[in-house]
Amino acid sequence: MTSTDAAITTLDGLIEREEAAFLARTTRSAELWQRASDVMPGGVASSWASSRPVPVWVDRGLGGHVWDADGTEYVDMHGGYGVNVVGHAHPAVVEAVQRRVALGTHFAQPTEDTIVVGEALRERFGLPMWRYTNSGTESTMDAVHLMRAITGRQLIVKIEGTYHGHHDALMVSAFRNASQLGPVDDPYRVPGSGIPQQMADLLRLVPFNDLDALRRVLEAHPGQVAGMILEPMMMNAGIIPPAPGYLQGVLDLVHAHGGLVAFDEVKTGLVVHPGGVTAMFGVQPDIVCLAKALGGGVPCGAIGGTAEVMAAITDGVYDQVGTFNGNPLTMAAARAVLTEVLTPDAYVRAEQLGRQMLDGSLAALRAEGQPAYGSVYGFKGSVVFHPTPCTNYREFLGIDLAISHCHFLYQHNGGVFLPPWGKSESWTLCVSHSDADGERYVSNVARLAHDVAPIRDRSSRIFGEGQYN
Ligand SMILES: Cc1ncc(COP(=O)(O)O)c(C=O)c1O
Repeated sequence: MTSTDAAITTLDGLIEREEAAFLARTTRSAELWQRASDVMPGGVASSWASSRPVPVWVDRGLGGHVWDADGTEYVDMHGGYGVNVVGHAHPAVVEAVQRRVALGTHFAQPTEDTIVVGEALRERFGLPMWRYTNSGTESTMDAVHLMRAITGRQLIVKIEGTYHGHHDALMVSAFRNASQLGPVDDPYRVPGSGIPQQMADLLRLVPFNDLDALRRVLEAHPGQVAGMILEPMMMNAGIIPPAPGYLQGVLDLVHAHGGLVAFDEVKTGLVVHPGGVTAMFGVQPDIVCLAKALGGGVPCGAIGGTAEVMAAITDGVYDQVGTFNGNPLTMAAARAVLTEVLTPDAYVRAEQLGRQMLDGSLAALRAEGQPAYGSVYGFKGSVVFHPTPCTNYREFLGIDLAISHCHFLYQHNGGVFLPPWGKSESWTLCVSHSDADGERYVSNVARLAHDVAPIRDRSSRIFGEGQYN
């Protein structure tokens, strides 16, 4: 296959060609997928691991690289959906986990590592008290429970389009397409499948970066809003940063109405900055939710809170519980992540590499007259195939899904593993990525830019109106 394949004149043609190449490279994955389909619905362990044209089965990882079941090596910028900023099999994490495994991995009694991890998180995020969970879903669920238990109120404000995990309180109107959004000043509350409408009706949705909309909701429901949960930087819609003053404005407004604010930093915490968006923007929410990167690849989660919020747990107003909370294996890994691997220098280096990747990619796209923008925050970054930066979910829906998927395919076939669903995801770098890894990413963008340039009609039959459109 060459970049100068003159016969291809449509985007769908490029996608078909690249998907064929992808399938030819992943025959063992296809076999495993077929076998898995007999034992797991959809042939995958989690429905969102199912991706087009075939879920890629991974054999192993080391540092910033992974090898798939066919033995092909990739630069891994998928990072397990934003988990692996420490890279694979980092010696400090391997040593910590090996030591712990030999000492026993579960007692449901505290171990000293829980204190060290809590102290490290307190220093990074500025919140005094911490508890542990096992996933981002559990962290945001606890946050909602806490906000309701403390205020005695029921309504929660959520940002339109965001995903906060798969529990009943928040799995509402996540990743909806344009026809499912409803009026901008009163969006539909669409529960995820299996979740009662009554749960969805306890939410109020507002667009990101819109303080007037938030003010209207708070004024329309005096004394009823327990709190607001938001990703302080939207991460499942590419990357959408908060407008200047937005986060402090949210805190001021919600507090003025007697509610609490929880930042969902499951994706951003420990990744965009040592202390997440919270420290990056110098704001102080009542609750911070963490997961993903904290465990260095071991299942994990945490919630931090102000003294007032966490007193509700101390005093038994809210029972924050779980058999595996503070699991010794997770805590040993998290301690190594926080105290040994994710040093301040690691963030500086990741951001430098990300900048090189972004600058190189935008230059290549510009040279071919392709509209694009992008951003870099610590280990995270993205190139977006759209002329103007998005500020909220409705604008994000305007980004073309087909070109984003095409980019995912070009990167994969060019040896860089990105998360599937290219439009909504971003890259995750790790402490081991090299300049050469970044250059591989840029050269794949350049190849895409070159091949796409002659294609004027971008309408895609492959991606009609559907999820994310
Ligand atoms: C912002 C955000 N919050 C919460 C979650 C849920 O985390 P988990 O999959 O660990 O339950 C996710 C998962 O991707 C997420 O992106």
